[in-house]
Amino acid sequence: MKTEIIRDPDPASIERAGRIIRAGGLVAFPTETVYGLGGDAMNPEASRKIYAAKGRPSDNPLIIHISKISDLTAVSADIPETAWALAERFWPGPLTMILKKNSSVPPETTGGLETAAVRFPDNRIAASFIEASGGFVAAPSANLSGRPSPTDIRYVIEDLDGRVDMIIDGGRSRIGLESTILDLTEEEPVILRPGFVTSEMLSEVLEKVSLDPGLSSEDPDFRPKAPGMKYRHYAPKGDLTVVYGSPENVVKYINEQSSLMRERGLRTGVIASGPDTGKYRADSVKNAGDRHRPSDISSALYRILREFDDEETDEIYSEAFDGPGLYCAVMNRLLKAAGHKTVNADMLVKEAP
Ligand code: TXA
Ligand code: MG
Repeated sequence: MKTEIIRDPDPASIERAGRIIRAGGLVAFPTETVYGLGGDAMNPEASRKIYAAKGRPSDNPLIIHISKISDLTAVSADIPETAWALAERFWPGPLTMILKKNSSVPPETTGGLETAAVRFPDNRIAASFIEASGGFVAAPSANLSGRPSPTDIRYVIEDLDGRVDMIIDGGRSRIGLESTILDLTEEEPVILRPGFVTSEMLSEVLEKVSLDPGLSSEDPDFRPKAPGMKYRHYAPKGDLTVVYGSPENVVKYINEQSSLMRERGLRTGVIASGPDTGKYRADSVKNAGDRHRPSDISSALYRILREFDDEETDEIYSEAFDGPGLYCAVMNRLLKAAGHKTVNADMLVKEAP
């Protein structure tokens, strides 16, 4: 398949993109979180094509993207008051809500579930593209299954050129991590995937909100409720370790390990933040931004993981970015990328004699 790449989307190219979707084709498009791989959410054949293009298991449901709050009623007949209140407060924006689905939503789009995920992205190009497409665009992140979500068109092209009809450029993704997923089908709202909209922010609207216990459990039988969260996504090709501890000990531990690995002929990399970046010695040291601004780290993380892949880095060490709010989403993705491999440098660094 020849993929048309749209560098400067104008009304005519967005109209063309919409026609591709309405005819059952696939278009990758920008959102404020990460790029999406879109198809008509109401067309089962289009959903099947999305799974094939991504190389994704078809039991993993897709998010339906809309461009008007009122279009919620076409996806679900059972919309709680809280959903309208959340939509008013956070849409357009990086919040996905899980609701009971309507019969008009095909099971192919929801991975066979009776519930549907819906979100209204905060991106001008996305909104006009969704509207031109008929209003309901099913889209997972626009990466091949198992790779970090793309935050720049060059990574979409890397993964999907020849697999979709069109790719629309929207520059770098502002947020850089996928949307918060909130399940509203249980008695109490549950966060199935942490994101930019934090539980603190949701508490402005909700009396109660909790985090899916399956997210933090190490027990493989304790499955996360969002089918996609059980897969080891976001995995770099190299071996990634997250290093906790005091900044001095983290630098010391990483430099010791890095020099050992380099002696063995391995290529090493570090995910660092702010002023400590210059203290690391490795083949490639990436500055993820100011550690006191978690939005810096969130918008840089996937790009950095992809760069390490491109550079064929064997051993990657990352500082830990612990904290409330958005740090929770950052650590969720970073720990997943690391396959939960962590060390505490405070326990391992030897005191100088
Ligand atoms: O920011 C985002 O959400 C991006 C952009 C493109 O909008 N999309 C995205 O889609 O991250 P995807 O497919 O990579 O992740 C969707 C997640 C998966 O973990 C999936 O299992 C979960 O949402 N999900 C979808 N429908 C669900 C449902 N009905 N119940 C539980 N989880 C669901
Ligand atoms: Mg994804």
